[in-house]
Amino acid sequence: MAALVAGNWKMNGLAASLGEMVALKDALARQPAACDVLVCPPATLIAQAAGCVKGAFALGGQDCHASPKGAFTGDLSAEMLKDAGASYVILGHSERRHYHGETSEAVAAKARAAWRAGLKAIICVGESEAQRNAGDAPHVCAAQLDESVPQEATSANTVIAYEPVWAIGTGRTPTSAEIAAMHAHIRSSLIARLGAGGKDMLILYGGSVNPGNAGEILGLPEVGGALVGGASLKCDDFLRIIAAVNPA
Ligand code: 13P
Repeated sequence: MAALVAGNWKMNGLAASLGEMVALKDALARQPAACDVLVCPPATLIAQAAGCVKGAFALGGQDCHASPKGAFTGDLSAEMLKDAGASYVILGHSERRHYHGETSEAVAAKARAAWRAGLKAIICVGESEAQRNAGDAPHVCAAQLDESVPQEATSANTVIAYEPVWAIGTGRTPTSAEIAAMHAHIRSSLIARLGAGGKDMLILYGGSVNPGNAGEILGLPEVGGALVGGASLKCDDFLRIIAAVNPA
C-alpha cells in the first residue's frame, strides 16, 4: 500500500489560499510524488479546491456528522463532503475530542458514516502529555482504537493516525524509538482487533512533522505516512515533506 502524506489545514484558509493548492498541483505534475497526497482544507474550500486541483491529489474533510442529513444546524454529513469532492475525512482528531467532547463511540459512528458515503476514514488516536508521563500511552491508544475503529474497518476504508496530543503544534516530537514503539503497538492492537484487516492498514504519524524531521520519521518501521498540520499550509514545506517519502 502506498504511503500517504496528508495535510490538515484545520481552521485556516480562505479562497486566496487556493493558490497553495494550485502550486501543489503544478509541482506534483513536474515531480510526481512517491506517495498518495491528501489535503484537508476547511469544508468551505473543498468544492472550489476540487475544481482547481482536478484530481492531482485527494481532498478531505476534517469531521462529519454520523447522519446523512437532518436537523443538525451547523453540521456537515459525509455525503456532503463526498458531494463537494472529498474522498477522505479526518475523524476523532484530538482537537475535536477536546474542544467538542467527541467520544470514541461518536468517532466510530462517524467512521461508519464515512464508509456509507464512500469516504475513507482517517481515525486519530494519541495520548496527552500527562498520560505519556504516567506510562499510559500504549494503553490509552489501544483503548481509543478499540472504541473508535469499528470492527468492519479494513485497509481499503480506514487509515489510522497516531498523534500524541503534546506533539501537536508544539515543535516537540517523540524520539524515533518512541514513535517506532507506538506504531508497533498500534499495529499489534489492530491485528488483535481486526485480524488480517489490520495487517496492512496505514498508520500515519502526526505532531510537529516538518521538512527537517520528515525523512527520519517517514523512514521508521510501521510509519505509513504523515498527518501534517502547520507545515501543510505552505506548498513549499508540504512538498519537502512529500519528497521525504522514499519510493517503495
Ligand atoms: P502540527 O503538524 O501543526 O503539529 O499538527 C498536527 C496535526 O494535528 C495534524 O492533524
